[in-house]
Amino acid sequence: MGLKFVNTGASLPEKILTNADLERIVDTTDEWITTRTGIKERRIASAQEATSDFSIRAARKALEGTPVNPEDIQLIIVATTTPDHFFPSVACLVQKALGAKNAAAFDVSAACSGFIYALTCARGLIESGDIKYALVIGADVLTKFADWKDRATCVLFGDGAGALLIEKTDGPGDLLSAFIGADGSQSDILSIPGGGSRHPYNPETWSQHPAFIHMEGKEVFKHAVTRMIEASLTALRQCGKTSDDLKLLIPHQANLRIIDAIAKRLQLPDDKVFKNVHKYGNMSAATTIIALDEAQRGGRLQRGDLVELIAFGAGMTWGACVLRW
Ligand code: ACO
Repeated sequence: MGLKFVNTGASLPEKILTNADLERIVDTTDEWITTRTGIKERRIASAQEATSDFSIRAARKALEGTPVNPEDIQLIIVATTTPDHFFPSVACLVQKALGAKNAAAFDVSAACSGFIYALTCARGLIESGDIKYALVIGADVLTKFADWKDRATCVLFGDGAGALLIEKTDGPGDLLSAFIGADGSQSDILSIPGGGSRHPYNPETWSQHPAFIHMEGKEVFKHAVTRMIEASLTALRQCGKTSDDLKLLIPHQANLRIIDAIAKRLQLPDDKVFKNVHKYGNMSAATTIIALDEAQRGGRLQRGDLVELIAFGAGMTWGACVLRW
């Protein structure tokens, strides 16, 4: 048995923050952001919006036009590091909003690699259990954890959610391979130091351990390129394919220079590499699934095409999966 991909959905905030807007907030320029990252604008959640709001909308879009009803879903996994609350999980909030009362629901934390981790978990549970339909969601609102005084990080992130509706099928299915990895020894180079059980909120020590993104950009950059190339080649090898077989590579959208370095190493021409970082910035766990949704709705992917998703994030974590759309 295997996994069949029924449909995707995505949800983005309405508010657009351009590089020109950022020039008025921190000491930066459109020229710096564009040349270093490729980002021109990003979507920002409003004060009233949280991760579950985007997750629920993305899930509804994935269900739209399919014969699958919320009660048919038996599993909901949300990949996120920016949940509405420590508990309940975002997945439980999605279950409630959809009325998916027969679904088990939980969150997965693997930062920007979260969607590939969640898909890998779903595969294991579907192949070993009685689950017929599952929803796998990648969702983050990292801009709520950006320090809007730190120009080195606040320009990089955007918010959103994407959802993938999966059906169990007889035969090998459409997920050809999935590979995930981690290196906790590098956990310090990308983190949100405060707000957890190590440094709970305390107004007196807040300035030492703020709940803001901390990133050693150059270090992260190096690891991201190396690990995503390794992951890509491993997942391709696992299913007996090469990058020549791919219709599309969907890399994590953190930085255009990282994407270009990977494409060059994998010898992929520009038209085989999906890019939307200029519009959305880095949406963490939401990035690859929103890109898959855009690619299939926008005609970049037809049914039967081979596509590879690759991602890298805090932890450090990384992952790649090869699928037939
Ligand atoms: N505007 C203007 N100048 C800036 C800005 C800005 N927004 N940000 C930094 N600078 C300055 C720095 O202060 C520094 O100035 P100095 O030389 O006078 O000290 C200079 O620009 C160079 O800064 P670097 O940090 O060395 O710039 P770099 O070329 O490394 O680019 C960047 C920074 C874009 C963050 C890059 O390192 C990067 O993309 N890293 C990877 C990010 C990533 O992949 N994240 C994925 C995981 S995210 C997750 O899991 C949540």
